[in-house]
Amino acid sequence: MQNTNEWWKYEQKDCCFRKSNLIDPSAITSDDLKMGKGNIICAGCVPTVNIAFQTFNIINPGCTVGHDTVFKNLITVYPEANIAGNITIGGQSELGTGCQIIQGITISSDTIVGAGAVVIRDLPGKCTVVGNQARVIKRW
Ligand SMILES: CC(C)(COP(=O)(O)OP(=O)(O)OC[C@H]1O[C@@H](n2cnc3c(N)ncnc32)[C@H](O)[C@@H]1OP(=O)(O)O)[C@@H](O)C(=O)NCCC(=O)NCCS
Repeated sequence: MQNTNEWWKYEQKDCCFRKSNLIDPSAITSDDLKMGKGNIICAGCVPTVNIAFQTFNIINPGCTVGHDTVFKNLITVYPEANIAGNITIGGQSELGTGCQIIQGITISSDTIVGAGAVVIRDLPGKCTVVGNQARVIKRW
């Protein structure tokens, strides 16, 4: 799905967790966690304070998320990613295993961050980045 405005079509499907959010009991969350619907937070994740998950995001085991970070829609974060504070992640993005995102970054929609990448500046969207420092290797 390339168009961020089409996420609502998922609501029309018969999806058992379309209105629910699933948070593994071992995840450490704060009281001010903001969640839309259809989000999954897996075991051992630590979303810290003032985090917002909009809709249909999955955060795989062992990820950390710093303060004031916003996840838009349909984002997959693979295991052990470390996402610092004040970050905005655009819809339909994938963050690879063990990637590191430093504070204050904006990742535009449809971005793929490779496993182990270290992201130190804003990413433009519709691209794949890899490496330390993360560099664009593909655009579409
Ligand atoms: C980044 C990624 C999406 C690239 O996939 P792709 O578009 O098919 O790219 P390719 O495999 O054709 O690789 C393109 C180039 O990037 C390099 N590259 C690929 N992934 C890389 C990574 N994670 N770090 C550094 N370089 C990487 C390749 O070596 C290749 O370099 P070359 O052109 O010099 O040979 C993929 O390699 C990746 O890291 N996916 C995340 C996987 C993951 O975390 N899975 C979790 C499962 S639980």
